[in-house]
Amino acid sequence: MRIERLKGFRDHYPDDMEIRYDFIKKMMETAISFGYRMIDFPALESMDLYRLKSGTELLEQTFSFTDKGGREVTMIPEATPSTMRMLTSRKDIKFPVRWFSIPKVWRYEEPQEGRYREHIQFNADMFGSDSYEADAEVIGLAATILDSLGLSGQYEININDRYLMELILKELGVNNPVEMFPIIDKFKKVDLNDFKERLLISGIDNNSIERLVSLLKNKIGINDIDNIFKEYGPEIKDRLKRLKDTFLLVSNYTNSKLNFDFSVVRGLSYYTGIVFEAFDTAGELRAILGGGRYNDLSKLFIDESIPAVGFAIGDAVIELLLRRSNLWNYKNNKKKYYVVNISSNPSAHIRILNDIRKSGNIAISEVNNRKMQSLIKYAEGNKCDFLIIIGDKELSSKSISLKDLNTQEQVKISIDEFIKNLKK
Ligand code: HAM
Repeated sequence: MRIERLKGFRDHYPDDMEIRYDFIKKMMETAISFGYRMIDFPALESMDLYRLKSGTELLEQTFSFTDKGGREVTMIPEATPSTMRMLTSRKDIKFPVRWFSIPKVWRYEEPQEGRYREHIQFNADMFGSDSYEADAEVIGLAATILDSLGLSGQYEININDRYLMELILKELGVNNPVEMFPIIDKFKKVDLNDFKERLLISGIDNNSIERLVSLLKNKIGINDIDNIFKEYGPEIKDRLKRLKDTFLLVSNYTNSKLNFDFSVVRGLSYYTGIVFEAFDTAGELRAILGGGRYNDLSKLFIDESIPAVGFAIGDAVIELLLRRSNLWNYKNNKKKYYVVNISSNPSAHIRILNDIRKSGNIAISEVNNRKMQSLIKYAEGNKCDFLIIIGDKELSSKSISLKDLNTQEQVKISIDEFIKNLKK
């Protein structure tokens, strides 16, 4: 019986994995350069962690089961609740804290382009600051990461503020604005008439629905914002100023387009302030990344509210974008040596292997005792740069035979000199 890989899951072979590891490394290096430090947490958490704050959509997508001790557990569908659990269980932390993590997460979604049931998610979060400067830094970090991958100009960031949306919805006569977010989150995903119908059922009158829809419809540039909000009250204008200030700061991090987009409210229910998502400029793919401010999630664990803002980037849409831009490739600057010991001393090649590896390069040993022709073919197929042959004749003069597989040039060189050259 042939056992197939599960639907929505991926295998990664080395050619693909090298590129994947390379872009994750770049993301890490950028986060580290902003002062963020890496954390990690279990792949399995108590189901309760997601019940109150992640939102019903995510809850329905969890890979969950009852363990042998009768506990309801789940493969983590996102990193934010675990990160908050870790943060609130330490008393000695000095704020602001900047953390990043790169877990695998699992969601039972219908597989489609850019969406799988398992993906790698790069998370970065800042805790202990409620300032707009913190909001801007986090969005700026997200943009710097995308730019560092060569994606500059290929994405735009849509930004909104849930708190501002609450004020707007209240002004439009909505009594429980927070309950509207799951409906608004579907604005771009459902037919407009369906959308209006859903609002009507929730008790919003037709006039307010039209005002809301006209707000949600357009992505707005910073210069148009005041015009649009002319008729709204002072509290809304104050909050709008914070959003505008954030926007201006973020534009110092990146040349990529930033939009006010009032239809971005995000599906997860813990967000309380700024929310943002990045999309490819062509608008063809699912979200590249998403995040926002979530100042109340800490209250799930402790009595205090710890201001928090962060985002997560999945690996799947990044892969699609890099492939489209012909950036799905990996060039390492290490040299690859294929080392063959045909001498009567079975350990004659080990020191050479060790020294090549210590020098930061790659040394692969022939272990199949193959004929020269077939092992050369193998070495070339493995993209080796050099072939080293150690025979009794070479050993008697403390040397090796070194063949450049790119030029086919072959030289005899003393072992000492070869090792000295490696260290240069
Ligand atoms: P999220 O929007 O649910 O946010 O996911 C963040 C990113 O993960 C998405 O933009 C997308 O790139 C990727 N992603 C989500 N689901 C899938 C999937 N099924 N397959 C492939 N990629 C996927 C969160 O998870 C929040 N916890 C982010 C956050 C961190 N907010 C604050 N801090």
